[in-house]
Amino acid sequence: MFKNIVYKFFGIEEVKDPEDTIPVVVSRKRIIADKVVEVELRDPEGKELPAFTAGAHIDVHIKPGMMRQYSLPNNPQERDRYISAVLMEPEGKGGSKALFYDVQEGDKLLVSKPRNHFPLAEDAPYSVFVAGGIGLTPLMAMAYRLRELGKPFKFYYRARARAWAAYPDLLVEEFGDSVECLFSDEGGREKFDLDAILKEVPEGTHLYTCGANSFMDFVTSTAEKYLPEDNVHLEYFYAAFDADSAENQPFELYCTKSDVTLEVPSDKSITDVLEENGINLPISCSDGICGSCITKFVEGEVEHRDGVLSKSDREKKQLFTPCCSRAVGEKLSIEV
Ligand code: FES
Repeated sequence: MFKNIVYKFFGIEEVKDPEDTIPVVVSRKRIIADKVVEVELRDPEGKELPAFTAGAHIDVHIKPGMMRQYSLPNNPQERDRYISAVLMEPEGKGGSKALFYDVQEGDKLLVSKPRNHFPLAEDAPYSVFVAGGIGLTPLMAMAYRLRELGKPFKFYYRARARAWAAYPDLLVEEFGDSVECLFSDEGGREKFDLDAILKEVPEGTHLYTCGANSFMDFVTSTAEKYLPEDNVHLEYFYAAFDADSAENQPFELYCTKSDVTLEVPSDKSITDVLEENGINLPISCSDGICGSCITKFVEGEVEHRDGVLSKSDREKKQLFTPCCSRAVGEKLSIEV
């Protein structure tokens, strides 16, 4: 189980769950598109890495105090390496810049074991992937898995320019006619008619999308005209909720297992307050993206600010992400 101890390894601190963490070495680093770097990670002694499933991600501890989540695009059958393909964002919080500029071949890093909050419905009769830019990474692993299962799919890859797109040639090489690259500088924007595509798909089709939030909004709002909500799946790269513009209210938090009542002020998250009081949940992204902190609530109402729980999860009124979500009223009881 989760243990809240600081773990020091390769000079990296702040790893709170050593049992979930494994050492790796950067075995290859290369630029694969404009501002996109691919980092290949292997066991330092050449052993097999923990298996992953299509759609999984790992936490990469890039340097002290800096951890980021990256989806694994490679074939889940591969046990000898994890791949991260990362877009360098000059205005980002620094993780992609550090991977792009600072991390070098031969560096030793810590990563978490793979986790998957974006699973593939393997029994679907047909699947549609709609990737926006670097959002192709989890979808690519899904395509490998469906090919292995012999299941049909179509992979639509949208990006502004071919030069900015990771793996377009590899995708076509691996999946042939199942891939359509639709890059704006080649007229792809005009050719991409998602309504027309989804009108023709067989019953039971599942759709998966990943990319910029606005791109996924477009894809999911179109998809929901043709597919049941439960068949439309998305994964956020960026926080789904604009916390800076939110108005937070303070509330009382009762922790049922610890039997303590805490005050959550407007300028702190639930996980901040829990941590200050010696109650540590597994936290990874703090942005409602990774699902590491998902916790049960037993009383009260929650304003969900995450991008991982599905609508049906939310309707059950049992789970929430305390790293970013908050109480609607004055009290919330949670199972910690
Ligand atoms: S820590 Fe990632 S969703 Fe809460």
